[in-house]
Amino acid sequence: MQVGMLYSRIRRDEKLLLSELRDRDHEVTKIDVRKEHFDVHGMPESFEGLDLVLDRCLATSRSRYATEFVAHCDVPVVNDPRTAAICADKARNSLVLEEAGVPTPRTTVAFTKESALEAIENFGYPCVLKPVVGSWGRLMAKIDSRNAAEAILEHKETLGHYEHKVFYIQEFVEKPGRDMRVLATDGEPVTAMARSSDHWLTNAAKGATTEPIEVTDEMRDLVERASDAVGGGLLGVDLMETGDDFTVHEVNHTVEFKALNEVADVDVPGTVVDWLEEKAETEPAEATT
Ligand SMILES: Nc1ncnc2c1ncn2[C@@H]1O[C@H](COP(=O)(O)OP(=O)(O)O)[C@@H](O)[C@H]1O
Ligand SMILES: [Mg+2]
Repeated sequence: MQVGMLYSRIRRDEKLLLSELRDRDHEVTKIDVRKEHFDVHGMPESFEGLDLVLDRCLATSRSRYATEFVAHCDVPVVNDPRTAAICADKARNSLVLEEAGVPTPRTTVAFTKESALEAIENFGYPCVLKPVVGSWGRLMAKIDSRNAAEAILEHKETLGHYEHKVFYIQEFVEKPGRDMRVLATDGEPVTAMARSSDHWLTNAAKGATTEPIEVTDEMRDLVERASDAVGGGLLGVDLMETGDDFTVHEVNHTVEFKALNEVADVDVPGTVVDWLEEKAETEPAEATT
């Protein structure tokens, strides 16, 4: 098949995928989105002849808009721009999880520091304030007191960009020093890891230690439902343990998997490419000449 890869920087994750695709004799067109311009009225040359496009853009803005243009040209794209739009926004992510009946932490959104403070006081301390757009644990705040809440809200309101004026407030989940990341293709778990840290943020990007874990039946069910809720695709589902149960705090759409590949027994790029091949076969591109 002919695969397009939207990217701006080739990280280890992309290298793993590229070499797997090339090992299987697929033709890969690397599309550096920084060098492209996408025309509403026509197909960009770089999309011509492609059976499938894989979005590996680092920046959420690029990923969201570039995939819109791929879909506009009727070329199948992983992930679908509608899925990207949901996953790129923590508020939308929470809403669809809740609508699908997937357990997710109690969350409130407010637009002024006064109403946000009221919501925070209702949650009690500690609670969590997150940017609606962001990843790698950046700009997350665990709020321990009213003084801290007032300061953070004022800073965000005064200094923050537009997105930081949406206050996304969440209950603090007393997780056991770790959370879980399950990589899934259309809801089918590929592999999973636990990320442990002394810090409350357990992102691999924040230096958490990782170890493989088994996906239990309960996790499998939640991953499938969380994936369906955002529209399926190649996804990273994040879960926290709450005693004997789980809560899903987010679903990620341009998922990194080098950490998973290192700890897992599974051949992650191989399994992902198996799934891409299947996808290209079942959803052929409509305009590939
Ligand atoms: N409500 C919460 N209670 C406790 N810990 C949380 C909560 N939400 C997130 N975390 C921790 O913070 C990390 C980052 O949160 P997440 O919502 O996944 O944002 P990001 O998109 O930056 O990864 C999680 O991996 C988890 O360890
Ligand atoms: Mg996360």
